[in-house]
This record gives sequence, C-alpha cells and structure tokens, in this order.
Amino acid sequence: MTDIETVRRYDDAVFSARDVETGYGDLQVLYGVDIDVQDDEIVLVFGPNGAGKSTLMRALFKQLPLWAGTIEIDGEDYSGLEANQMVSHGVAYVPQTSNVFPNLTVAENLDIGSIHARDADDRRQRMFDLFPRLEERRGQDADTLSGGERQMLAMARALMPDPDVLLIDEPSAGLAPQLIERTFDHVDQIRQTGTAVLMVEQNVDAALDVTDRAYALDMGENKFEADAETIRNSERVRDLYLGK
Ligand SMILES: Nc1ncnc2c1ncn2[C@@H]1O[C@H](COP(=O)(O)OP(=O)(O)O)[C@@H](O)[C@H]1O
Ligand SMILES: [Mg+2]
Repeated sequence: MTDIETVRRYDDAVFSARDVETGYGDLQVLYGVDIDVQDDEIVLVFGPNGAGKSTLMRALFKQLPLWAGTIEIDGEDYSGLEANQMVSHGVAYVPQTSNVFPNLTVAENLDIGSIHARDADDRRQRMFDLFPRLEERRGQDADTLSGGERQMLAMARALMPDPDVLLIDEPSAGLAPQLIERTFDHVDQIRQTGTAVLMVEQNVDAALDVTDRAYALDMGENKFEADAETIRNSERVRDLYLGK
C-alpha cells in the first residue's frame, strides 16, 4: 500500500493557501488548511460530506473572513483582499449553487462576467468556442437551460475575465452520468487555455481522470496530498473516501 501521510508544499505555486482557519459565527470549520495550485494544474479537493470543502472554497475567494492563515497569488500575500478584488487579481470562483442569474439571458450572464474582461467580445467568442451549446442558447434565459448547460454557463461567466486560477465547487453535482465526464472534459479544456483549476468533487473517480494532484480534506484539516495516480492506487484512500 502506498504511504501518503504528507502534504507537500510547492514554492512556485500560482495560488497558495497556508494554515487557513475559518468558520461561521462560533463554529470553527477549518483548522489550518494548506493548498497549492501550480501553473496549468488541475487540483482536486475531496473528502466526506461536511469536511469543509465548500467552506474552504469560500474562504479562498474571501467570501468568508480568514480567522488565521494566508492566501498568496504568484507568491505575493493577498490575505487582505476583499471578495470583490479577487477577480481583478486573476482568481475566479464558481459556487455549487446560485452560480448564474436565472432571469437573465445567456449573453447577459456573460456580459456580467465581462466586467473585468479586457476584451469582452473576444472572450465571449472564446467561451462560445469552448461551449458551442451556449452560443445556440445565447438569447435564452438561464433558467430555461438544462442542468448541464447551466453549469457550462456558470463556468463561462467565471472565465470571462481570463483568470489564472478557477475555483469550482462540485461542477458535476446533480448531472446525469453521461454529462459528468463531459464536465471534466471541459475542466481539462479550461486548463489547456492556461487557467489552472482547483475543484471540489464527490465524483472522485471521474474527476481523477483529468486531475494532476489531489488533497484529501477531513474534519477541516488536510489528511494528505498526492498525485492522481497515487490516490487512485491507494487502498487507504479507497477504503476511507471512495467507498468502492
Ligand atoms: N452557511 C453556513 N452557516 C453555518 N454553518 C455552515 C454553513 N455552511 C456550512 N456550514 C457547516 O460547516 C461545516 C462544513 O460544511 P461544508 O463546507 O459545506 O462541507 P462540504 O462542502 O465538505 O460538504 C458543516 O458542519 C456545515 O454544517
Ligand atoms: Mg460542499
């Protein structure tokens, strides 16, 4: 069995969190979490329900205050940024729910995403190249889209400013099995366009197909970190987290 007890640190990361603690009111959820994302990587965060995965994503995008710890972008400390400043520093976030404006059209959703984009027309066309379905549906309200299409729109909206890092929370949740693989293909394409991806996923096996490295999170702490191949071949991971 592969021994994976450690959490390595990567000095050349484009995005790093160190010793992050946060929570809600009196409830502490994260007890010192480390995450690194290197250039053009897809990094997976997995772990049981309630482990604090979504809380971590909110903290990394500064939607929750940091109780302790630091967030660095390209090696510079940006722990003090407000949520609305993250995008202009190259970080984008797709929450699991409420990630599109349902009563606006596809095109209008992209326009809202383009506020920080340098060339909105060019970015919109790139998004339509990446997600042709969205171009077909550009005049439709978002709430008329299928679940898969809505997830594409949520990703496209976040990608409009051409971020260096995309944080995405359970992109395949609630999708039909045949759409799950397509979602991860999209994540892989996003990485190929030069945006690194940090994603939370419960569909660990499918997510590992496109993942470079993964972090196991449990009870608000890092359990271990390893490359996708090691995670896939670890009996301990299988027993603990994959349940299969
Ligand atoms: N908005 C919130 N207010 C209070 N507690 C919350 C809130 N969101 C999550 N929690 C709590 O934080 C813990 C971690 O939740 P979450 O980050 O959603 O876990 P995961 O995404 O890994 O399933 C849970 O105990 C959950 O009940
Ligand atoms: Mg969650």
